[in-house]
Amino acid sequence: MCAREPDVVESSVMEIAELFRRPVVVVASEICHGDEELFPEELAHVRAAVAKRRAEFATARMLARRALASLGATPISLVPGADRAPVWPSGYTGSISHCADYCAVVVARSRDVRALGLDIEDVREFEPSMHDLVLTSGERAWLRRQPQELQPILPILFFSAKEAYYKCQYPITRGFLEFSDVELTIDWPAGAFEARVLKRDWPADVARLAGRFVIDGGRICCGVELAAAPTQA
Ligand SMILES: CC(C)(COP(=O)(O)OP(=O)(O)OC[C@H]1O[C@@H](n2cnc3c(N)ncnc32)[C@H](O)[C@@H]1OP(=O)(O)O)[C@@H](O)C(=O)NCCC(=O)NCCS
Repeated sequence: MCAREPDVVESSVMEIAELFRRPVVVVASEICHGDEELFPEELAHVRAAVAKRRAEFATARMLARRALASLGATPISLVPGADRAPVWPSGYTGSISHCADYCAVVVARSRDVRALGLDIEDVREFEPSMHDLVLTSGERAWLRRQPQELQPILPILFFSAKEAYYKCQYPITRGFLEFSDVELTIDWPAGAFEARVLKRDWPADVARLAGRFVIDGGRICCGVELAAAPTQA
């Protein structure tokens, strides 16, 4: 059982909401919800999973239903697709992230936002072996020129920002990207980044997207959004 209700206005939630410029709803909570939150199909989806996975899955579903309800959606089952990507009710989009003991969900109306990407990581030591996996050679060169005090945090920021970008582009492309396929430009003072796909022929509308980050309470949160296309008059 959770000690507290999910947060809709707490400072960490407000900071996550500020990662986005378009109208979104963010709901977050510690990971403490169980099978009782799940629709039968959702329960069937995670029946064989370990307890931690069931708890994060159930917490995410509970938060997503709350966030969607605040936008007027009726509560429905949110079973992921075979590719593990969330399947949102028609007229809505969103993104889910969980870290060790915390989960956050952002949702929006499709008329406002075409796609969202949210990623949250606990600030931790980043294995040096991960640098080669996550960073391009250009990013490694940039990292070497940054102040010493930022060296521990920047690799996790690259990781999280690329995950947020990946989640945002996926509903449009349904395509897989390696970390090395995406290059970031980070503006640390502005809390902003730009993700650019290095692969040729990636769909132009998502080949370069802007994102924002915030570091708060031992967590890095990154958000990327793709605006809805303007409607024809
Ligand atoms: C999707 C992925 C980015 C999730 O990131 P993560 O840090 O492992 O986990 P998070 O807790 O932040 O996010 C998990 C949520 O992502 C969502 N997700 C899973 N696959 C997704 C996809 N293809 N597109 C968008 N969202 C996806 C799900 O909602 C999931 O939560 P749920 O299982 O409770 O529904 C990761 O698992 C993955 O598939 N990576 C492969 C691609 C990649 O990372 N390339 C390098 C970056 S460009």
